[in-house]
Amino acid sequence: MPDAPKIVVLPGDGIGPEIVAAAREVLDTLGEFAYDERLMGGCSIDANGVALTDEVLDACKAADAVLLGAVGGPKWDTTNPDDPRPEQGLLGLRKGMGLYANLRPVRPSPALMGASPLREDRISGTDLLVVRELTGGIYFGKSGRDGDAAFDTCEYDAAEIDRIARIAFEAARRRAESSGARPKVTSIDKANVMETSRLWREVVTRVAADYDDVALDHLLVDNAAMQLVSRPADFDVIVAENLFGDILSDEAAMLTGSLGMLPSASLGAAGAPGVFEPVHGSAPDIAGQGSANPLATILSAAMMLRHGLNMPDEATRIEAAVDAVLEDGLRTPDLAGGPAAPPPMVDVPPEVEVGTAEMTAAVIEALVRG
Ligand code: IPM
Ligand code: MG
Repeated sequence: MPDAPKIVVLPGDGIGPEIVAAAREVLDTLGEFAYDERLMGGCSIDANGVALTDEVLDACKAADAVLLGAVGGPKWDTTNPDDPRPEQGLLGLRKGMGLYANLRPVRPSPALMGASPLREDRISGTDLLVVRELTGGIYFGKSGRDGDAAFDTCEYDAAEIDRIARIAFEAARRRAESSGARPKVTSIDKANVMETSRLWREVVTRVAADYDDVALDHLLVDNAAMQLVSRPADFDVIVAENLFGDILSDEAAMLTGSLGMLPSASLGAAGAPGVFEPVHGSAPDIAGQGSANPLATILSAAMMLRHGLNMPDEATRIEAAVDAVLEDGLRTPDLAGGPAAPPPMVDVPPEVEVGTAEMTAAVIEALVRG
């Protein structure tokens, strides 16, 4: 029997430990995994003075995959550039592990249509993937403060843009294999203002020549923000630089009804371990109450099985189980009590508000039930 996959687990702060424990329970019903739990984020600042130690980074690099909860909280909020911040752990991990490609799929669950602030006729049919560049741009450029002045710089080179564009085109092709639709990539930039964006547009256009089966269009980021809520179903794969991808993926998350639903995978070179984490933050206001929505983390564990551990069938089973519990009417508080729902049809079960533990148990039950 092959060794159990080695998973470094970084629960982090706030609701992180609760939602990661939920995802571990789900994983444990599917197979054997060797977990190695470590500190990263605010909890590591408290223990070690820094958000990510070299030792933890090395452990992550040596693992088969990394499962991450969320980091940050008011305790470590500071505007002093010399103080450590939990987010430095996250950024250090991305850079240190070379995780340049962040995949954020947005597929509203049919059962959650009513939970989105957008009208059902707008979001119905939405199934998109945000491919966000994760190790370049303004997040990692030179920045500084001099008294009352501050600066951040955005830099990209052609090689960085080329490799993320290829990830997007390949993903579009793969998605088309199952959907049968013509694959499409929408590239986001601010080419009317920024030089990095003009380079971005040029390189993406060049890469597109190698993928003539994939349609490509370019959208300015402000226009994209608008189109994403006015015609979300028209998008397939969206590729964006680091900051634009960060902003647009939070916006896209609301199409699913809650930021608590969106998983992500951060991937580097082929064969290197990836990091799998929910898109949402550490929600310190509800930490420890047992009410956090574990589904984005459970779905991130599914992405880990698919993209990190070559267990695609198990990944699909988790995703089906999550759909099933939502169809059964289970809702964590973030998903419950949306805009007045239309009177349920006879065969739609009523919504039941549940906590983290009940939601997790229901997912496991649905998994076992098949
Ligand atoms: C995300 C988060 C992070 C980011 C923060 C916490 C640094 O918003 O993963 O989207 O901006 O990348
Ligand atoms: Mg973000």
